[in-house]
Amino acid sequence: MCGIIGYIGGNVESNLYLGLERLEYRGYDSSGMVIKRGSNFTTYKATGVVEKLKPTIKEVATFGIGLAHTRWATHGGISIENCHPHFSSCGDTALVHNGIIENYEELKGDLIKKGKYFYGQTDSEVIAKLFDCKLNINNLRRVREKLIGSYALAIISKNSDYIYFAKNKSPLYIGLGNDCALIASDPSCFVGFADSYITLEDGDYGKFSKKEVIIYDKNNKIIKKQPEKLDFSFINEELSGYSHFMLKEIYQSRIALEKIIEVYQSYAMKEKLEILKNKEFDRIYLIGCGTAYHAGLIGESYMRDAFNIDVFCEIASEIIYKNLNIDEKSLCIFISQSGETADTLSALEYCKNRGGIVVSITNTEYSSIAHKAILNFPILAGQEKAVASTKAYFAQCIVLYIITNYLKGIDYIFPLQNFKRQIDFGDDNILKSLASKLANFEKVFFIGRKRDYITAKEASLKLKEITYIFSSAEPSGELKHGVIALIDKTVPVIVIATDEKVFNKTLNNACEIKARGGKLILFTTLNIDNEIEKAFDFVVKVNKVSQAFMPLQIILSLQKLAYFTAVAKGLDPDKPRNLAKSVTVE
Ligand code: G6P
Repeated sequence: MCGIIGYIGGNVESNLYLGLERLEYRGYDSSGMVIKRGSNFTTYKATGVVEKLKPTIKEVATFGIGLAHTRWATHGGISIENCHPHFSSCGDTALVHNGIIENYEELKGDLIKKGKYFYGQTDSEVIAKLFDCKLNINNLRRVREKLIGSYALAIISKNSDYIYFAKNKSPLYIGLGNDCALIASDPSCFVGFADSYITLEDGDYGKFSKKEVIIYDKNNKIIKKQPEKLDFSFINEELSGYSHFMLKEIYQSRIALEKIIEVYQSYAMKEKLEILKNKEFDRIYLIGCGTAYHAGLIGESYMRDAFNIDVFCEIASEIIYKNLNIDEKSLCIFISQSGETADTLSALEYCKNRGGIVVSITNTEYSSIAHKAILNFPILAGQEKAVASTKAYFAQCIVLYIITNYLKGIDYIFPLQNFKRQIDFGDDNILKSLASKLANFEKVFFIGRKRDYITAKEASLKLKEITYIFSSAEPSGELKHGVIALIDKTVPVIVIATDEKVFNKTLNNACEIKARGGKLILFTTLNIDNEIEKAFDFVVKVNKVSQAFMPLQIILSLQKLAYFTAVAKGLDPDKPRNLAKSVTVE
C-alpha cells in the first residue's frame, strides 16, 4: 500500500534501495528515488517491481539526503508520471506519500486555476504542488491543514538539510543511528542502520537531520518522544535455500508454534492473559480482513465451543454498517498480521468509541493496531514477506486457541506440544502432481463442513491470490442450492474432510458432484477405506491430529498446493499481481 523511506547519511542510493526492497511488500507497481547532494536533485523512477529501478541508479558513495517510494496504485495508472517522488512546481521540493488524500480533486481544481501544471493523476502530486518553493515548518503546517485523508509524508528541499515529515492514519517511524537518520513506513527498514526508533502519532509533523529531531503534535506544540530500542531479530531476508519466501514461510509455521509455546508459558504472557480474564464481558467480537478474518472464524469456532456467550466474527470493513451492540461489555479482538490494515484500524476506533474492550493479535508489536489496543497478543511468527499470508494464519489460530483455553481455564501447552510433534506438511510429490493438473483449470471450488468450510475459504483465497484461477469456497451442504449448476467435467472440486462426525454428509455432497461429471479431489486427515477413495480422482492424506488442530494441519498442504500451482503456471507466488501485503487505505 505504498512504502516510503527517507535517509540522511552515506551511500544514500544503495541504502535507500535496500529500504525499498524491505518495503516492497507494501506494493510493487512502480518505485522511485530522489537524492539531494549540495543543492541538486537526482531522480530515478521505474514502473514494475523494485528490481526494475536498480539498473537506472548511479551509485555515488558520498553523503546525501534522499527519499524513496514503492507504489501500490490507487489514484492514477501505473506510469512514470504517477511514480513518486513528486515535485513542487518550481522543482525545489520533492515528496513521497503513502495514503489517500480524499479532497485531492477539489485541491487540484484550485491549483489548476492558479496555473499549476500536473504531470500525472495521483493525489500525491497535489500535495507536492501545494508547496511553495521554500520548505519550512510553517509551510508544512499550512499544507497539512488543507489535507483531508491519510498520509505519511517525507519531504526534502534543495535548500534544506532536513527531511520534513507529517503523519495522519498511515504508519511512520523515525530511525536514529550513529551515522545516519531515517524515516520509513516500517521500522524493519532501520535494521543495520539504527539502534532505536520513534513512533509518530496521527497529527505529528516536523523535521529531522542527523543531529536533531523536532516533532510538533496535532496542537502545534513541540513534543519530546522517548526512542524505543530496535529489536529486529525477526527480520526475514534470506531465502535460506527455498525458491520463494512463501514456501519458506509455510515451513516456518512450525518455528512459530515452538516460539508461541515458549513465550506463552512465560510469566509476562500469563499476566497479560490474566488481565484479559479479569475483564467483564458478555459478548466477543473477532475482527479482521482477508486471511486474518479467516483466522477469526477459526477463533469463533473455538470460543463458541468453549463459552456460553455470543461470539461473532466480523469483516473489519463491514462492521461499522452493522449496527452491532458494541459496548463496555463487548470484548473486541482485532486480528492483523501487519497491525496496520486501515479497515481493521478503523473498525478498532469504531469499537473503542463505543466503549468496547479492545484487544489485538498481531505479528508486529510496534504497529498502530497493537499500540491502540489495551492488550496485544503477539503471534511471534517472524516477518512474513510473501504477500499471501501463511505462517501468520497458522500462528493467529494458535494464539486464538491459547486465549480460548486460558479464559476457560484449560491447559494449552500439552496439546500444543503434542501437535508440534505431529505436524505434517504433506507429500511434495503428491502435491506437485496435483498442482500440475490444477494449473490447467480455469475455476476450482472448495467445499467443507464446520471448520472444514473455514479451511475451504482460506484455501480458496490462497489459490486465487497467487494463481489467478477463479476459486470459491462453499459449505458442502449449500452446493445443491445453487452452485451445483456450475459443475461439469471442466470443474475440479476440492473436498476438505477432517471431521469424522460430518464425513458421511460431505461424502454425499461429493457424490452429487461426481454424478455431474465434476473432478473430485479429497484433502483429508481421516482413515478412509479403499471403496471411498475410489470415488475421488485424487486423494491427499495428512496425519490426523486432535480435532482443534485439524484446520491447521490440513491448511499446510492446501497452502503448498496453491504455491505449487502458481509455480506450475510460471507465476511469482511471492508477488501476486494487484495485491499488497499491508493495505493501509480503506
Ligand atoms: C491484505 C493481504 C492479505 C491479508 C490482509 C489482512 O489483503 O494481502 O494477505 O490477509 O491484507 O492483513 P493483516 O495485516 O491485517 O493481517
